Amino acid sequence: MDPVKFIDQAVEEIRREAKDRRVVMALSGGVDSSVCAALAARAIGDRLEPIYVDTGLMRKGETERIVQVFGNLRLHVVPAADEFFAALKGVVDPEEKRKIIGERFIRIFEREARRTGASALLQGTIYPDRIESEGGIKSHHNVGGMPLEIAFDKVIEPLRDLYKDEVREIAGALGLPPEIQHRMPFPGPGLAVRVIGEVTRERIEVVREANWIVESEIVDQFKPWQCFAALVGLGTGVKGDNRVHGWIVAVRAVNSRDGMTADPIRLPWEVLERVAQRITSEIPAVARVVYDITPKPPATIEYE
Ligand code: XMP
Repeated sequence: MDPVKFIDQAVEEIRREAKDRRVVMALSGGVDSSVCAALAARAIGDRLEPIYVDTGLMRKGETERIVQVFGNLRLHVVPAADEFFAALKGVVDPEEKRKIIGERFIRIFEREARRTGASALLQGTIYPDRIESEGGIKSHHNVGGMPLEIAFDKVIEPLRDLYKDEVREIAGALGLPPEIQHRMPFPGPGLAVRVIGEVTRERIEVVREANWIVESEIVDQFKPWQCFAALVGLGTGVKGDNRVHGWIVAVRAVNSRDGMTADPIRLPWEVLERVAQRITSEIPAVARVVYDITPKPPATIEYE
């Protein structure tokens, strides 16, 4: 793939498919949606309506960062945490959670379509997303089974044939900041797939803090494909003189080319000890920390 040629073709395709429509797109700050937004800005300028859905399921500082990076694109922030938490209340089945989150996104896109007068949707779906959805491995919130036609008469997916490393190359060629070009993938359903069982504000808060610690100890030094924390259950620990019931946090750090297979990273023991020590001392609700050494397959990268 020649990045310059790809950019020309994608810009042309977006123009051709959009015709004279206004186009909504959800920016997440990840490399896929950022590349899409940059291509669309070149292709259709002000007819692009970029939104950022603040689901309440994002990483620490994410919303502020995105507003800062994409403010110049007239980014519209949709505060939606209340509606996501309400929709997820009592839901424990992983596929059910993904469906509910996907449906919420659709409802929000529909509202945004009405607000902006847009009739097309631009999405940063890449090739592995499609393969895993079509193969029935998981329902991706941004593909498969969602009634997008209800809100839009056109869905545009300029990255649908690319792998992640190719998207990163395009990001470089487009001159996006290195921080975005090399950003770790983050799932569309956000931290919800990193809490096994019911998603609550309190649990998301715990996993968000744990995730922050994991990223700050591992990303710069080891440059993994992905690293994160997940809440995998409740267990017993001791805090002070008491046996307490607290969260078990699993730490995951993997390398991968395309997310379809992955290998756990052999992190130095000292790093793992520091991560475990920080998580249990900085987050009182956590009782123990485990490191996940399972490759994909048989495990997936995310926990749900
Ligand atoms: P799994 O857990 O299936 O993840 O091994 C493979 C890669 O895909 C990311 N992922 C998602 N990305 N929407 C996304 O945009 C999703 O629903 C989703 N589920 C998983 C995951 O973070 C990993 O990089």
